[in-house]
Amino acid sequence: MVLQRYKLQIASHFAAQTGWDTNELAGLIEIPPDRTLGDLALPCFKLAKTMRQAPPVIAAALAKELEACSIVEHAEATGGYLNMRLKRQAITTDTLAHLHSGEGVYNDTHGAGQTVAIDLSSPNIAKPFSMGHLRSTVIGTALANLFETSGYKTIRINHLGDWGTQFGKIIVAYRKYGDEATVNANPITELNRLYVQFHEEAKLHPELDNEARAAFKRLEDGSEEDLALWRYMIEVSMREFEKTYQLLGTTFDFNLGESFYNDKMDAVVTELREKGLLEESDGAEVVKLGDAMPPCLIRRSDGATLYPTRDLAAALYRARHFHADHLLYVVGGEQRLHFQQVFAVLRKMGYTFANACEHIAFGLMRMGGKKMSTRKGQIVRLQDVLDEAIARARAIIEEKNPHLQNPDGVARAVGVGAVIFNDLKTYRLHDIDFTMDTALAFDGETGPYVQYAHARTCSILRKANALSVGPSVKTWVTSQCRADDAIDDATWYLTLTLQGIETVRLRAIEERDPSLVAKHALDIAQAFNRFYHDCPILTAEGNLKALRLALTDAVRIALLHALTWLGIEAPSEI
Ligand code: ARG
Repeated sequence: MVLQRYKLQIASHFAAQTGWDTNELAGLIEIPPDRTLGDLALPCFKLAKTMRQAPPVIAAALAKELEACSIVEHAEATGGYLNMRLKRQAITTDTLAHLHSGEGVYNDTHGAGQTVAIDLSSPNIAKPFSMGHLRSTVIGTALANLFETSGYKTIRINHLGDWGTQFGKIIVAYRKYGDEATVNANPITELNRLYVQFHEEAKLHPELDNEARAAFKRLEDGSEEDLALWRYMIEVSMREFEKTYQLLGTTFDFNLGESFYNDKMDAVVTELREKGLLEESDGAEVVKLGDAMPPCLIRRSDGATLYPTRDLAAALYRARHFHADHLLYVVGGEQRLHFQQVFAVLRKMGYTFANACEHIAFGLMRMGGKKMSTRKGQIVRLQDVLDEAIARARAIIEEKNPHLQNPDGVARAVGVGAVIFNDLKTYRLHDIDFTMDTALAFDGETGPYVQYAHARTCSILRKANALSVGPSVKTWVTSQCRADDAIDDATWYLTLTLQGIETVRLRAIEERDPSLVAKHALDIAQAFNRFYHDCPILTAEGNLKALRLALTDAVRIALLHALTWLGIEAPSEI
C-alpha cells in the first residue's frame, strides 16, 4: 500500500531516537482530521511513556530527524503532535505510478483458496419484490464483488422464500376468494391481495388459521393438487423477479429456495435428537438455548417444519457441499434473533463452522417515513420505483445532453444506479428513507454525481486523445516529470484522496461495509470536480498537461472500479 510505504519510510527515521520498532511507529502515524495542519501527523503521547519525556519535546526532536527524509517537505511540532507536510511533487508522481501499475490497488490475493457463501436477495414467492429485498440484493452483490477482488471464491445464493405456512394461507385464500382469470392476469398483485385478505378474514374467523395449517401440511405431505398451485406461484413469481434482476444486473450462482431443503430436514431432526438436543415443549420440538435466548423451534406439533429448521439444513449444505469457509447472511436486522438462534444451535451440534456464520444485518427502507409490510398490503414495488427512476433520468439526460447516443441505455444505467447508490452510501445498519428527488440529484451525494464525474474523465481523455494514458505514465513519471511542476492544492488533495482507495477496498471487505466504497467514490468525484474547476487540463502544456491527464485517467480507473464493485454501471458518456 502506497500510504503505508510512506509511513514506514518516515518512521524509519525515528527508530534510533525513540527505541521503537519502525512498524509500530508507522502504525501511530495518522491523517490529521484537519488537512490544513499537515498531510500526516504523529501523536507523541504513547512515545512519552517509554521515552520519559513530554510529548511536545519528543515531537520537536523528531522534527529534526526528518530533515534527511526525501519525502517530507516540512515537519513541525504542535503541542504533542508532529505535523508533517509531504513533498508534493515526489509523492504525486510516485502515487500516480503506483495507481497506474495497479499493484494491489484494485485486487490482491489474500482470500485465495477461501470460499464465501453469500445468502442474498431471497424474496418471497407470491409476494412482490419489495424495496426491502433491494437492500439485501445490492449489499450482498457489492460484498460478493469486493470479496472477489481479494481472490475469494464467492457463491451467491438466492434463498427464495418458497416454503412455509404462508403458502397454506394463500392456498386457502385462493380457493375461497380467488378467481383463476383474475390471478392469471396479474398474478403477484392478486396473490398478494389474497394473502392480505386472508389476514383480515382470519381476524374475524380464527378457524381459518387451522385450515391454512392443514393446507401447508398437505403440501409437506406431497398433495399433488396443492403442489400444482404452489408450482404455479413459483413460476409466475420467478418471471417477475427475473425482470427486476435483469434491470439491477444481479446474478446468482444458485437459486436454492427453502423447499430445496425439504428432503434434507429429517436428517437434521434425527441428528438433533441423537445429539440429545431436541426437547418437547407444548407438543412442539425445540432446542433450548439457555437463558440468553428463547428456544429454537424445530418442528411444530403437527410435524410441520419451520423456517429455522430449513436454515439449519441450508447451513449444513453450504458448509458440506460448497465447502464454505465463511457463511454470510445478508438479511434485515429484524431477523437478528432468528440467526442468533440458528448459529447457536449449530454450535451446540458441535460444528466449528458456526463461528464462521455471520448475519450481515441492515436497517429498514422507508418510503416517505413509512415502514413496509406485506401483511398490511403497504408495499412499494421495486419495479415501479426503478421504472420511475429510469423515466426521470431519461428526462434529465435529454435536457442535459440532447445528442447523446443510446439515451435509453444511459437512462437505465443512471436511474438504476441512482437507486442502488442511494442504498449503498448509507451505512447498512442505518435506516434509509427513500426519496426519488434526493437519489437522482446530479449535484448531491448520489450515484449520478459519481457516474457523471466518471463520464467527464472519459470525455476529457477522449478530447485529449489520451484514453488510458496509463501504460505510458510510468515512463513519463520516471523520465520526464521535473520537480518544477508545482502541485497546487486541488491536485494535491485529489492525489491524497486517490491514495485511499486501496485501504478503503480492504476495510470494506473486513468490515463487510460497502458504504465505505460509496463514500470514497463521492470523495474522489468531489476532489476531481474541484481539480477540474481549478486546473485547466486540455489547455495546459508539456509536463503539466501530462500530469493532469494522468491524474484524470487515475480518477477514471478508480471510479470505474468503485462503481463496478457497487454493482453500478459506468457509462462513458452521459
Ligand atoms: N425470505 C426471507 C424474507 O424475506 C429472507 C431469507 C433470508 N435468508 C435465510 N437464509 N433465512 O424474510
